[in-house]
Amino acid sequence: MKCLVTGGAGYVGSHVVISLLDAGHDVVVLDDLSTGHRAAIPDGVRFWHVDLGNAQATHDAVTQDNWDVVFHFAALSSVGHSITEPFHYLRHNIMNSLNLIEACTSHQVKRFVFSSTAALFSDERDLSRITDDALVNPASPYGDSKFFIERALLWADRIYGMRTACLRYFNAAGADPQGRLGEDHRPETHLIPLAIDTALGLQPALKIFGNSYDTRDGTCIRDYIHVTDLADAHIHVIDQLDTRSVAYNLGNGRGVTNLEVIESVERVSGRRIPWEWAPPRPGDTAILVADSSRIRMETGWQAKHQHIDSIVATALNWRKRHPHGYDGHKNRPVVADATS
Ligand code: UFG
Repeated sequence: MKCLVTGGAGYVGSHVVISLLDAGHDVVVLDDLSTGHRAAIPDGVRFWHVDLGNAQATHDAVTQDNWDVVFHFAALSSVGHSITEPFHYLRHNIMNSLNLIEACTSHQVKRFVFSSTAALFSDERDLSRITDDALVNPASPYGDSKFFIERALLWADRIYGMRTACLRYFNAAGADPQGRLGEDHRPETHLIPLAIDTALGLQPALKIFGNSYDTRDGTCIRDYIHVTDLADAHIHVIDQLDTRSVAYNLGNGRGVTNLEVIESVERVSGRRIPWEWAPPRPGDTAILVADSSRIRMETGWQAKHQHIDSIVATALNWRKRHPHGYDGHKNRPVVADATS
């Protein structure tokens, strides 16, 4: 299949690109490289440097070919930053996505897969796991920006017949098990990479935000899902789009507290992590754990990395080999039969 991947130089997007190439698909990456890395795009894969904020450039890019599927990852994605810069987040994510969606509908794109988020949901105290039909109630402008885009995609389906899959990721973590790709945000704000960098002595003491949440140890609970399992889900949903639009929650269904993440990184790395308490981070929700039974039942998708240690191990492996991330990463990922 011919696939256009926006944000294909970013963390989740680049892992999806590699999974698509591994499965034999033809991929073009579109990215503005504002947060992604050129070195994360395999040699031989076509790359278009385009800012989705530019409607004309976006239209020109989308209309260059007839895509079987468009995957949309390009977005600002930090919950915490979206609280300090709410309108920047809302404007950037919503406007850029509307430019892309409009270009796709006018070009009769029929299948569109959207990188949505668990940040659509707040605490669901009555449910041990959050189902696909749970009440949408974002606790941050980031979550709301993604919700708006889900709504826009609903209209793209109803009015233009563009079938869409909204995949609501819980906490993406880990790295390509073959070591071709990893996680490199600037600045890094996510717990697992920061805990790993602390264990490796690449940054000082880790701060744990909040110790009085209503959870088993007072720290937030998250559902970590391996980035390669996430990527695999994108391929599993494509067939669904022949007949209808779908929205799925994507997680492992297991909650891990922030302190348990520290324990896991200590176990896997064999090193102690110096850490200290810090005030709660605005926008954080106490518990986010997915019920992903619907995507499993309807597509046959299954997460392979179910234990937090197995997720941490792949992230640690990449970081040890790339302590400065993609900087100094001379060789791009090598993928068999990368298209040109
Ligand atoms: N945390 C710390 N210290 C840190 C960093 C994080 O205690 O230095 C805590 C956070 O407060 C939170 C937990 O670790 O309790 C996880 O935080 P992350 O920043 O790693 O991830 P988030 O849950 O905030 O966000 C991630 C993605 C979002 C997605 C969300 C869905 O970045 O895009 O998961 O759950 F929406």
